[in-house]
Amino acid sequence: MDKQQKIEELLQMFDGNASQAALAVRNYATESARQIARKPRRKVSEEVVIKIDSLVKTYSLGKNEVQALKGVSLDIHKGEFLALTGASGSGKSTLLQMIGGLDKPTSGAIAIDNTELQHMSDRELSRFRNQTIGFVFQFFYLQPFLKLDKNLEVAGMPMGTAKPIRAARVKELAGQVGLADRLGHYPKELSGGQMQRAAIARALLNNPKVILADEPTGNLDSENGRAIIELFEKIRDEFGTTIVIVTHDKAIAARADREIRLQDGVIV
Ligand SMILES: Nc1ncnc2c1ncn2[C@@H]1O[C@H](COP(=O)(O)OP(=O)(O)OP(=O)(O)O)[C@@H](O)[C@H]1O
Ligand SMILES: [Mg+2]
Repeated sequence: MDKQQKIEELLQMFDGNASQAALAVRNYATESARQIARKPRRKVSEEVVIKIDSLVKTYSLGKNEVQALKGVSLDIHKGEFLALTGASGSGKSTLLQMIGGLDKPTSGAIAIDNTELQHMSDRELSRFRNQTIGFVFQFFYLQPFLKLDKNLEVAGMPMGTAKPIRAARVKELAGQVGLADRLGHYPKELSGGQMQRAAIARALLNNPKVILADEPTGNLDSENGRAIIELFEKIRDEFGTTIVIVTHDKAIAARADREIRLQDGVIV
């Protein structure tokens, strides 16, 4: 039965009692809204791109030990847009760094695209990172003395991509993030939102399968923050990129395909 029919049926049932009819219609509408909210936000692929198994990270500071992650297991799927939330100090950045191979876990395993990170030498790991992962941070980290085109181009250097190919790719990416007319500008001549879009273009240079973003909207107003999230959604839809973002913003977390919350180093 469609909505219109159901409402008409309710109205007939309560014929002669307008207020009861109105209440019944409202209850029906509320329940339909609840059912919609309970559905998975979006269908994602079965393919697991990031596999995290019993991850523990303990930092040692002299005699003190901080257990930042106390056994985290999580599968993240191809093309999934996952929001990582939790209070300050709950382990979000630590988890993102482990996924990105920027730091090594104390125990447990991470596999990206079926490759176990713990078996790689530092050199292999850094090559793998350049090929597979794009990083985006809260404080953009653009080189202040390089114009935007060079800022983007240098990200292709470790991969040994030829200069003309890099230059063409930079133009294409600048267009995709809406900065085609800003390539000759220095970072200080860009707005915060533009700088973050530039950082995202840089992260995309090597066509990564995975983007890891630590509070990418933390330094932006809500309008620019929304534009960044829309850009991530566009990237996910066009390239099937798996995107993990750490955020404190409830609206952003609600928009993601899934929200995973950390508390004191465990998923809750
Ligand atoms: N390099 C480090 N050395 C020692 N302790 C660390 C280090 N990095 C993080 N920690 C500790 O590990 C815990 C988790 O830190 P983490 O940075 O992952 O938190 P977070 O969830 O990202 O917090 P925030 O929202 O404030 O960024 C904290 O108690 C923190 O003090
Ligand atoms: Mg953090």
